[in-house]
Amino acid sequence: MDERDLILVVDFGGVHAQLVARRIREARVYCEVVPYTAAVEKIREKKPRGLVLSGELFSIHDAGSLRFDTALFQDIPVLGIGGGMHLLARLWGGKISSGEKRECRNVQLTLLRSDLIFKGLPGEISIQMDQGDFVQTLPSGFCVAAAAPGTPTAAIFDENHHIFGVQFHPEVGDTTWGQQIINNFLYDICGCRGDWTPAAFIEEQIAVIRETVGSSRVIGALSGGVDSTVAAALTHRAIGEQLTCIFVDHGLLRKGEREQVTQLLKEHLGMKTIMVDARERFLAKLSGVADPEKKRKIIGHEFIRVFEEEAAQLGKFEFLLQGTIYPDVIESGTPTAGKVKSHHNVGGLPEDLKLRLLEPLRLLFKDEVRLIGEELGLPHEAVWRQPFPGPGLAVRVLGEVTEEKLLLAREADYILREEIHWSGLEQEIWQYFAALLPVRSVGMSEGERTYAQPIVIRAVTSEDAMTADCARLPLELLEQIADRILSEVPGINRVLYDLTPKPPGTIEWE
Ligand code: XMP
Repeated sequence: MDERDLILVVDFGGVHAQLVARRIREARVYCEVVPYTAAVEKIREKKPRGLVLSGELFSIHDAGSLRFDTALFQDIPVLGIGGGMHLLARLWGGKISSGEKRECRNVQLTLLRSDLIFKGLPGEISIQMDQGDFVQTLPSGFCVAAAAPGTPTAAIFDENHHIFGVQFHPEVGDTTWGQQIINNFLYDICGCRGDWTPAAFIEEQIAVIRETVGSSRVIGALSGGVDSTVAAALTHRAIGEQLTCIFVDHGLLRKGEREQVTQLLKEHLGMKTIMVDARERFLAKLSGVADPEKKRKIIGHEFIRVFEEEAAQLGKFEFLLQGTIYPDVIESGTPTAGKVKSHHNVGGLPEDLKLRLLEPLRLLFKDEVRLIGEELGLPHEAVWRQPFPGPGLAVRVLGEVTEEKLLLAREADYILREEIHWSGLEQEIWQYFAALLPVRSVGMSEGERTYAQPIVIRAVTSEDAMTADCARLPLELLEQIADRILSEVPGINRVLYDLTPKPPGTIEWE
């Protein structure tokens, strides 16, 4: 097989690099995100067909990024986006003028070129633009390819060296024709062939897994969620009986989940699976702990300990399979993205881990994992299950976790899930759940004063969990959910609906 095409997204900070990467992969071209601190030799070694420099205007000035070597661009096409364009202009001798106010706005862009990365576009398009600073003096060899109000140099081309800069964001939904611009760069400029497909990924990973694992045995951490199920199915296809999966019931599962997962594993996956009942053990460890990061760390740590113990009983294992995906890796902290929270399967790992990690989905986004799952022939319900965090209900019972509080959250969550299922809105919502708040308020029930806890309903739409919006559920549906929770779950006397987008919130409450 030919070497697969690769595009590298060089991340100069800000929130856009991951989104750019997704858009490139949606165009069926494989890409990876590397920090701007990556050594030029390392970038060259990977033999990328093209580079995309992604950064916000605001981050790139401070990035120490001018160390970036122009020699790199001699024979590799490059697209600078946002601050990435300014970086290119500065590297090639242009001048940037600092605007007074820097902001991100939707404006109309007038195209002065209709070829190269702008091929097939109309003369005017709507874009999301980083406004403020702009390229005042063009570097030699460059021309202006587009202008917008307040930004006379909104896009620049040096076609002889295949260098392109756009001050706006083709990767965001607000930029019409954005995907076309990206596709033009990938296919027309870099000569990519569109060889990044689920089938190709599976074939490649099977080879990688076989080579990494050799004749060793692998223990798989199976939660029944999309990521770990797909990781297990893929690994099972690669090494068959060398894989044994362990499903841990940590007592933080949703109602009916253990039964559902058991059925899936038995009926559809046909792989060796062991069910461990560790409910008491996790609850004991969580007793008295209210801090979210501590809870996550404890759960991550306990998970690994359970695996190690089970593995020791089962004989010799060398690898631990985990369903870690790209956003878990990014949000647990990278050189350019600050740490948001420790995902239990990344940040919570004990330092003295005795098993080597196998993470075949580490570079994939959730929607890509689903495509892989479908290609592997997993059942629709398993592939399209909404995400459920590894630490489970522990991050949805805010503050200290107890058996009683878990019961309240679990029952309320079940009612919510049932109602949304019946409403037929399931597929339209990325994730929905109930979270129990650690406060109490006064209420009334059957003529008696109550002093009980509120539950929050969280329902969001999202493309990849990196950002999210509140799902606009019909008020009648919310009322129906609230009525049922209030009458069927004693111990809850208020139901709230969370309107917070991500950012500034996160999807989970902890
Ligand atoms: P946040 O709350 O950070 O979550 O907006 C983004 C997505 O990740 C899920 N999530 C987790 N998944 N282990 C996981 O496997 C975790 O520790 C974890 N924390 C959050 C969350 O449900 C959402 O889909």
